[in-house]
Amino acid sequence: MTEHNGHGYDAIFVGCGVIGLASAWRAARAGARVCVLERDRPAAGATGVAAGMLAPVGEASWGEESLLALNQESLRCWPDFAADLEADAESAIEFAVRGALHVAVDRDEAEELRRRYELHRSLGLDSEWLRGKDCRALEPGLATAIRGGAHVAGEASVDPRRLVAALLTALDQLRVEVGSGAEVVGAERDGEVWRVRTGDGGEHEARVLVLSAGCWSGQAGWVPEESRPPIRPVKGEILTLRGPADEPVCERIVAGERVYMVPRADGRLIVGATVEERGFDTTVTAGGVHELLREAYRLIPEIAELELAEAGAGPRPGTPDNAPLIGWSATEGLLIAAGHYRNGILQAPITADSVAALLAGEAPPVDLEPFSPLRFVGLRTEPALEA
Ligand code: GLY
Repeated sequence: MTEHNGHGYDAIFVGCGVIGLASAWRAARAGARVCVLERDRPAAGATGVAAGMLAPVGEASWGEESLLALNQESLRCWPDFAADLEADAESAIEFAVRGALHVAVDRDEAEELRRRYELHRSLGLDSEWLRGKDCRALEPGLATAIRGGAHVAGEASVDPRRLVAALLTALDQLRVEVGSGAEVVGAERDGEVWRVRTGDGGEHEARVLVLSAGCWSGQAGWVPEESRPPIRPVKGEILTLRGPADEPVCERIVAGERVYMVPRADGRLIVGATVEERGFDTTVTAGGVHELLREAYRLIPEIAELELAEAGAGPRPGTPDNAPLIGWSATEGLLIAAGHYRNGILQAPITADSVAALLAGEAPPVDLEPFSPLRFVGLRTEPALEA
């Protein structure tokens, strides 16, 4: 990997998921000299199995108002982010404001969904309660048993695979190198500079290191202990079904209590996702596939006619409070952008702009205080089952 003569990089990003890629792209676009190092290959973690749901209201939960505000702000950034990226990469990423319909099939689910809808209303979110027949008027493929739903017209989706491909192209256009198979095995601070060694024999220098290694961020041995974030892998299994593009089983994101479905323009339907505490295990299990198909079928029986095209599993980067870490760590020159749990694709634009601003010595576009890595200093966590 070539370095910029004499001074090394302004920043090296360690980790090549959507957060590392998007942040490196925004920083490079703003004039920073950056590179990205990746232990495996781009999008080898959560990004590679993400459904691409951009759904702040659907993800809203009690006591998580700061997280909701971040998610909403990032959704507001998405149209410009997508337009810039599509222009830079000259390729489409399928960003689409489809809307989402959260539905309940039985009485228990209806009670729970109604509580969620009341939460939406109390937070002033744009969510509309619909009776079962009104849900089916919007999405005729829904089961006749549907008792009601919350319609959130502003929610959106993107194709994460196209997104990653576009980010890699955009970085290439800016001559930013992305090193796959380059695991950071050592990093020492020497005055104002980090000296970084990778397992493939590479040596690099940078003013700042950005830890953007998703669920592996908590395992990074080169990160001083006081700054190592308490991030754990949370397994998600996900399916891709395929049907005719001109007869989709749904137009919107359709979500139930234990499943969500995200349609793609080419006729694919992404069905996600289990939530399992299994360490770094990414086995696709019969139980996981069964659960997803059973729950999807309860909402839209027609999915039984679709081809089962793919099944995958990946580790989400979970944090103790479900919120990401974005900002300076307790270690000088070490920035963290990791722990985006269920919302990495959604939060990519706001994280990337925040990281680019911090690297440039500017104020970030949002208050990052609730997401400061410093909130976890001193918190001890058990190691994950298997690294
Ligand atoms: N964003 C939804 C999930 O992580 O399953």
